[in-house]
Amino acid sequence: MGEMLAYSRWRPSVLLRDVEPSDVAAYVRMRCDPAMMAELGGPVPRAGIEAKVETDVRRTRADEWWVAMIVPDAAAPEVVAGSVALWSHEDGEDVGLSEMGWMVLPEFQGQRYAKRAVRAVLERARDDGRWGVVHAFPGVSNAASNAVCRSVGFTLVGERNVSFAGRELRTNHWRIDPSTDLT
Ligand SMILES: CC(C)(COP(=O)(O)OP(=O)(O)OC[C@H]1O[C@@H](n2cnc3c(N)ncnc32)[C@H](O)[C@@H]1OP(=O)(O)O)[C@@H](O)C(=O)NCCC(=O)NCCS
Repeated sequence: MGEMLAYSRWRPSVLLRDVEPSDVAAYVRMRCDPAMMAELGGPVPRAGIEAKVETDVRRTRADEWWVAMIVPDAAAPEVVAGSVALWSHEDGEDVGLSEMGWMVLPEFQGQRYAKRAVRAVLERARDDGRWGVVHAFPGVSNAASNAVCRSVGFTLVGERNVSFAGRELRTNHWRIDPSTDLT
């Protein structure tokens, strides 16, 4: 029942469900793998993954952040293709800035999962109304992620340094107003 409710909040072009405590293994595959993290400053330590999942689950259940898992097959919701997240910065000079991030596991890449998932989240953000302009900061050399931004309708603003998981990255700065810019 809980899962059906979670599904019903998302559009049908891609199945998304809220992150669950059981997604630790998927997080490890996404965040502790050198290839997956090549454009994100390298893998993060395995030891912090349970805490990151716990925070993402708690914030998502509180409807403060939207952290969703991409589900290729509704009959097997524990199998995930990747994740997509939308959150709002809570401190520093970017306080109030809405940001998205996404990851798709290697065996699911190149099948439009990222594009469809990012679009679905932006459609929900548009309908929800609280997020305003949404920003994304893929690494300058991250061809696939910059292509996702371009194909969904983000506009390139410029470059900037951002910190991700404690590392400084040189990124492109993209923005989209989901109420007017979704392609
Ligand atoms: C970036 C990533 C999420 C892309 O996921 P994906 O599901 O393979 O992407 P999609 O299939 O949805 O592709 C979306 C668009 O990007 C293009 N694209 C995908 N991979 C590409 C690549 N390597 N080079 C150039 N363009 C690429 C697609 O052609 C498509 O554009 P189109 O609709 O105009 O044809 C995935 O490669 C990934 O997780 N990489 C490692 C983690 C990472 O870097 N995350 C992003 C951090 S900002």
